[in-house]
Amino acid sequence: MTSLANKQILLGVTGGIAAYKSADLVRRLQDAGASVQVVMTPAAQEFITPLTMQALSGNPVHTELLDPEAEAGMGHIQLARWADLVLIAPATADFIARLTQGMGNDLLTSICLATAAPIAIAPAMNQGMWHNQATQTNLDILIKRKIHIFGPAEGGQACGDVGPGRMLEPLQLVDAAASLFASGSLAGKKVVITAGPTREALDPVRYLSNYSSGKMGYALAQAAAEAGAETILISGPTQLAIPPRVQRIDVISAGEMHAASLAAAQGCDLFIAAAAVADYRPAQIATQKIKKGDADMLTLTLVKNPDIVASIAALTPKPFTIGFAAESENLLEYARSKLERKNLDLVVANNISDSSIGFNSDDNAVTIVEKTNATEISQRSKQQLARELIALFAQKIAAL
Ligand code: C5P
Repeated sequence: MTSLANKQILLGVTGGIAAYKSADLVRRLQDAGASVQVVMTPAAQEFITPLTMQALSGNPVHTELLDPEAEAGMGHIQLARWADLVLIAPATADFIARLTQGMGNDLLTSICLATAAPIAIAPAMNQGMWHNQATQTNLDILIKRKIHIFGPAEGGQACGDVGPGRMLEPLQLVDAAASLFASGSLAGKKVVITAGPTREALDPVRYLSNYSSGKMGYALAQAAAEAGAETILISGPTQLAIPPRVQRIDVISAGEMHAASLAAAQGCDLFIAAAAVADYRPAQIATQKIKKGDADMLTLTLVKNPDIVASIAALTPKPFTIGFAAESENLLEYARSKLERKNLDLVVANNISDSSIGFNSDDNAVTIVEKTNATEISQRSKQQLARELIALFAQKIAAL
């Protein structure tokens, strides 16, 4: 069964005749395990009353941008933070236009501007309005902004026309919403993930590091938490926010990451090494800033860092241990040798010679390398890829 267990869904209802189906949608979302809060635009209230939605959702319905009842008068920020997903169903042509323009002239558009959660819209309108170039151009822009568009379906319309523009049925919307999250397949499991770069100090003001953004490791941590795992993220320095329900341990150097990983790996079921760990560190950290001398050359002596993922794979009992291989050539060969040398259960290999994927990019395409087989996963967002990887790892652990 489709699961939205523990998910907080903010359902936005805008003013179209399909709004009557939103009442059923509230129930269906709750049946799938979600908590639902409803926001209605003024036009939506012409079609269905806030009282109906309040009775069904079990929560007060939000209709006003400037709400003196909300703490500090900033209800839109609280709701934007509360949501794991903002789902707007039905989404009218007018609402889509306002969303595209980044307007904040009512509560729902303001929430969409403020939220860090994914946004999905279920368009519902007359087929002529759907086909209109203005609507289609707006949708193209929303797709580029990674807003999810659910539907519309084709068929008979309230106005008598036949064509695209019918809102998807509530159960289809629940399935579409659930597909944005990983399933609850890691409930009761402990997952430890390393992410980001490490910094190896040279002196009090300088360090050696790399371009890793941490995005892949953070996306994996978010997906693992969504899948119900107790999730610990051991992170080098990044600019990223801590995903909901993830415990983050901040580290700087490979040495610190190594110590934190060994401590966190106690009793863990799955260890994922997504960090770009510096292989070497300066042999000595100067206590004072290294001064520029007369010589044209400066030689640094580096010593090898501990291999974190290999130390975890050497533990007894050993968690299911996964490494990443970022390679610019001989992808499969190098990934497989890493698998064997470090005693890993699986390697996620990606080709870093393509700048549209991998380091610092929002997308990735990978090859899953195991002892006897290799499977390619084509280019997609790191979030989407992370959910698919976590679902795959969960299957592997369940089959142990
Ligand atoms: O050997 P290489 O650095 O290419 O292997 C990459 C994999 O090993 C990644 O999963 C990375 O997180 C992990 N690694 C590690 N500790 C190191 C070096 C790499 O855990 N010192």
